[in-house]
Amino acid sequence: MENEKRIKKAITFLEQAFYELEKDPDKLQRRKRDVIHEINTTGTYTHTYEELSHGAKMAWRNSNKCIGRLFWNTLTVFDARIADTEEEVTEALFHHIRTATNAGKIRPTITIFKPEKVRIWNHQLIRFAGYEAEGDAIGDPDSVAFTKQVMELGWKGEGTPFDVLPLVFQIEGNDPVWIDLPSKEVLQVTIDHPEYDFTPLHAKWYAVPIISDMCLEIGGVDYKAAPFNGWYMGTEIGARNFADTERYNLIPEVAKIMDLDISSNATLWKDRALVELNRAVLYSYHKEGVSIVDHHTAAKQFHKFEQNEVKAERDVTGNWTWLIPPVSPATTHIFHKPYRDKISSPNYFYQEKPY
Ligand code: ARG
Repeated sequence: MENEKRIKKAITFLEQAFYELEKDPDKLQRRKRDVIHEINTTGTYTHTYEELSHGAKMAWRNSNKCIGRLFWNTLTVFDARIADTEEEVTEALFHHIRTATNAGKIRPTITIFKPEKVRIWNHQLIRFAGYEAEGDAIGDPDSVAFTKQVMELGWKGEGTPFDVLPLVFQIEGNDPVWIDLPSKEVLQVTIDHPEYDFTPLHAKWYAVPIISDMCLEIGGVDYKAAPFNGWYMGTEIGARNFADTERYNLIPEVAKIMDLDISSNATLWKDRALVELNRAVLYSYHKEGVSIVDHHTAAKQFHKFEQNEVKAERDVTGNWTWLIPPVSPATTHIFHKPYRDKISSPNYFYQEKPY
């Protein structure tokens, strides 16, 4: 990025952040001067911890696809910009997993690495492998390409449907390294149902979704390695990861357990199985004391977020197609109103895969 452009972005960010943090206008003027000087002499600039932390929170607040944004201001921000060895990066990632998991009482957390230094290959820090097989894939079909890559690097899975993938990252263009994620580090929940016997499904899922392949952009600086997490909304697991035909495709098996009449679409057997699968996910996470939110409560919380934003005199932006839950969308207020999908900065962006 040219200096000119970065300076413009930096100033816009600093003005907004300092305003929101109610900082002294004199301090803002001095900081702007220093940042302009730093960009002109080095081509970039270094955020203070306060800027980094607030920027990451603003980026969450601006994430139009996210229904969980009521909690944007509670994000725990770890500054890992000093990590520049394999050991230090590994330690920072394990530290993230541990503190975010918090024995089930999940803490929304982000760990921010130095721009251009670290690149994480995983889509999420914790995810199940997928293996191509004759007929159906084994494990998570969405992980097949990545699993192939890490096997080429020398990793070997056990070949179960729920093998936890290793952490894979590279430092400054060096060859990527993979680090096994021991199962004791990965809190998981076995899925069962309050009434039906779901044991034949052998379904389980991990507690914490930690997106690790998006780029955090704050004031003209791109943090390409900045894994972040909240807690799950039940439908992400029950209506997508387990239900999509291109994922674990469990609806037909659930229908069998429930002894549903699958001879006609009109019995709504898919819908009935889907609801019970989603009940099972929420029931199981609750039973294990692992944070999760159902889509009705999440929509209510999002409504509160919208009110808060109006009060703060900020635009509420959103991506309707992502905000509506995949189960019973029209039972939430979100379904019944339009949202403007305007992209503001700071934000989290998709970026090119490193492999
Ligand atoms: N939908 C993704 C998954 O099922 C996770 C995306 C982030 N979700 C969240 N609740 N923060 O793994």
